Amino acid sequence: MDKKIALVTGGVGGIGSAICKRLVEQGHFVVANYIIPGTETKYLDSMAAAGFDASCTAVACGDVTSYESMGEMAARIAKDHGPVQILVNCAGITRDSTFRKMTPEQWRLVIETNLTSVFNVTRHVIDGMCERGWGRVINISSVNGVRGQFGQTNYSAAKAGILGFTKALAQEVIRKGVTVNAVSPGYVETEMVAAIREDVKQQIVAQIPAGRLGSPDEIAESVAYLASEKAAYVTGANLSINGGLHMYA
Ligand code: CAA
Repeated sequence: MDKKIALVTGGVGGIGSAICKRLVEQGHFVVANYIIPGTETKYLDSMAAAGFDASCTAVACGDVTSYESMGEMAARIAKDHGPVQILVNCAGITRDSTFRKMTPEQWRLVIETNLTSVFNVTRHVIDGMCERGWGRVINISSVNGVRGQFGQTNYSAAKAGILGFTKALAQEVIRKGVTVNAVSPGYVETEMVAAIREDVKQQIVAQIPAGRLGSPDEIAESVAYLASEKAAYVTGANLSINGGLHMYA
């Protein structure tokens, strides 16, 4: 496959950085977006340790909750490296709380970071993909967007919204050579899952038929597939990778 320019939002996080590594291994130039100062150093160090340098990866600071910030970031990436051809919308946060205790701020932060962000980034790169006749948009949803999760009305709503977005946009751009798909991870070994209260986490793991958490690499592999030429006829799909936690036809 030709070398493409890939942008991964939240690319310095647990699943994000595994996706970046896998896309670099696939031969692409990968830009990892981040927002918290310092997190990019850890990312670049881990990439260097894996033998990947500035010839195959870079970082880009930007706030996914801001349409303007994402416009500036997309323009900067186009100028420095080339237009984004593969976009992975991976930035996400949790603010878990039962609904009856949830504050408007917890609702707003999660919807803006996990769902509105997908509009904010994709809107700036989709025209170029369509004009060039090739593109890949891969949205990271969640098992909890499909089945709902106690304590996550905000997160489940945002992740379910991503699935609707994926299916609608897929229909609009497939004839331009652009595919739009989702990947729905289950519970994966990341800081996000590590933050769940220990007793609650143990109850969740007990419900997973695989009997363990997933690894970020297991999620990254499916993203690499969806980004590949071989997945040209896959669009509007949602790949579930959850160790059997939730099965549906
Ligand atoms: N179903 C039904 N009832 C439940 C329940 C469930 N799944 N979980 C808890 N309850 C009950 C409890 O038994 C308890 O009942 P009593 O009052 O009768 O004792 C009541 O609901 C309150 O439960 P908690 O003690 O847990 O309430 P809390 O306010 O202390 O904590 C919470 C709420 C922070 C949301 C906590 O329940 C929690 O962390 N839940 C897990 C949320 C979760 O799965 N987050 C995923 C994060 S990782 C991620 O999001 C990545 C991804 O994509 C998968």
